[in-house]
Amino acid sequence: MLRSKLRVFVTAVLVTGAWAIPKPPGQAFLGQQALDDLAQRAAPIAGFDTGCSKSAKTCDWMAKFPDNTKLVHMNLPGTHDTSTWNYTDATQASLLRYTGPIPPAEVYRCQEDSILQSLNDGIRVFDLRVAYNPGNDTLGFHHSAALLSPTTRVEDVFFGLYNWLDNHPTEAVLVSINHESGTGTPEDSQFYEKLYGIINAPVAQKYWVQVNGTLGTLGEARGKLTLLQRYSYDLLPSNLTKRIGIPLDPQHWTDNGKIIELVYNVAKNQIAFIEDFYDITRSLPLGSGTAAYIEAKFDAVTAHLTNATRTDLNPDQLYISFASAAFIDDTPFVTPEIFALGDGAGNLGMGQRLLPWLKARKGQRFGIIMFDFYDGVPGLVEAAIGL
Ligand SMILES: *[C@@H]1O[C@H](CO)[C@@H](O)[C@H](O)[C@H]1NC(C)=O
Ligand SMILES: *[C@@H]1O[C@H](CO)[C@@H](O)[C@H](O)[C@H]1NC(C)=O
Ligand SMILES: *[C@@H]1O[C@H](CO)[C@@H](O)[C@H](O)[C@H]1NC(C)=O
Ligand SMILES: *[C@@H]1O[C@H](CO)[C@@H](O)[C@H](O)[C@H]1NC(C)=O
Ligand SMILES: *[C@@H]1O[C@H](CO)[C@@H](O)[C@H](O)[C@H]1NC(C)=O
Repeated sequence: MLRSKLRVFVTAVLVTGAWAIPKPPGQAFLGQQALDDLAQRAAPIAGFDTGCSKSAKTCDWMAKFPDNTKLVHMNLPGTHDTSTWNYTDATQASLLRYTGPIPPAEVYRCQEDSILQSLNDGIRVFDLRVAYNPGNDTLGFHHSAALLSPTTRVEDVFFGLYNWLDNHPTEAVLVSINHESGTGTPEDSQFYEKLYGIINAPVAQKYWVQVNGTLGTLGEARGKLTLLQRYSYDLLPSNLTKRIGIPLDPQHWTDNGKIIELVYNVAKNQIAFIEDFYDITRSLPLGSGTAAYIEAKFDAVTAHLTNATRTDLNPDQLYISFASAAFIDDTPFVTPEIFALGDGAGNLGMGQRLLPWLKARKGQRFGIIMFDFYDGVPGLVEAAIGL
C-alpha cells in the first residue's frame, strides 16, 4: 500500500520535472518557514520556547481563575527591564560599534531568563523599553544607553508573544511600553507613528485587547496582550485615532516615587498606585552600604504591598510595585543583581527577603510586582501569584 503510494508520488515528481522537493499541502510549509524566520530574529529579546514541564504549576496558572475575575484583583508577577536578559559583556562587546564604550553590562542587566522562558515560569507582565534601532528605520529594545539587539524589531517579539498565547489561550499578558530616553535616539512623531502602526497592524488587532483607558476582566484579556501605555499620544498625528492602552502618562508618573497616585481614567475613577523607588541614593547618602540600601528599598516595597493587601483601602484599584532598584556606583557597588539576590556576603537581596513576606500573606492581593532576576529565588513567582 505504502509502496504503491510512493510510486505514484515519485512518478508525479518525475513528471512535473524540476521540483524535487515535494510541497506539503497549502501554505503550511511557507508559513512554518516564515514563523521560524521571525522566531530567529526575535530570539535575542524573546528567547526560545523550550516548553513547559508537566509538573510546573506556572505555565497556565490563570486557567484556574474564573473569567469574571477583575485584573485589578489579581496578583501578576512581572519582570522589570525585561529585554536585558542576555546583555552580558560578550553581547555588549559585539554591539560596541553601535554604542561606543559604555559602563559594564552588569550595570544594565536586570534579568537572565528570556521572555518565552519567563512566560512558562508564570511571569505575566513585561517592561519593554523601546527606541529606534540603529539606522532609525525600525524600533527595537534598549536599556538606557545599552542597545540590546540591533536586528530585532518590536513586531518580531510581539509575534513571539502571539504565538505563545495561541499555545496558552487561558493566559493574559500585560505589556508595558515606553520610549527609552537614555538612548539619545529621537522621540519624534515618526517614532509614535511606527509604534501605532505595529500595535494596529491587522495581526495585532486580533491579539491586543482593544480597549481604551480601562482595565477589565481576565476573561476579556485571555489569549491577548494588554497595553500598559507608559507614553502619551501627544506626538501622534491626530488622524490616527485608534488609541488603545491603559494610559500611565509619564507626565504624572513621578520619577523615583515611593507612592505615585496616577489617575488613568477620570470618568471611571480608575487609579494606579505605583511604587517606583529605584534610585536609593536620592534618599540615602553614598557610602550608606549595601545593607542600608536594600533595607530602604525593602521598606518602600513592603509598605506599598501592605496597602495593596488592605481590603478596606482601594480594593478595586491597580497596584504596581517595583522590587527592582538601579545600579549604585558606590564602594562596594550595588548592581541590580545584588539588589535582587544579595551580595553573597551576608546581605540578602529583595527576592530572598520578599519570599517569606509574600508566603506569609498567601491569598491576599499584591497586584503587579515587577522583579529583577526572579529566577534566582526558587518559589518567588509562585509566592507572588499566591499559588
Ligand atoms: C546571547 O548572547 C550571546 C553573546 O553575545 C550570543 O552568542 C547569543 O546568540 C545570544 N542569545 C540569543 C538567543 O540571542
Ligand atoms: C538617527 O536620528 C538621529 C537624530 O535625528 C541622528 O542624529 C542620527 O544620525 C540618526 N542615525 C542614523 C543612523 O541615521
Ligand atoms: C493622516 O494624515 C496624513 C497627512 O497629515 C496623511 O499622510 C495620512 O495618510 C493620514 N493617515 C490616515 C490613516 O488617514
Ligand atoms: C480610544 O479613545 C480615543 C479618544 O477618545 C478614540 O478616538 C478611539 O477610537 C478609541 N479607540 C478604541 C480602540 O476604542
Ligand atoms: C497607604 O495608604 C495610606 C492610606 O491611604 C496612605 O496614607 C499611605 O501613604 C499609603 N502608603 C503607601 C506606601 O502607599
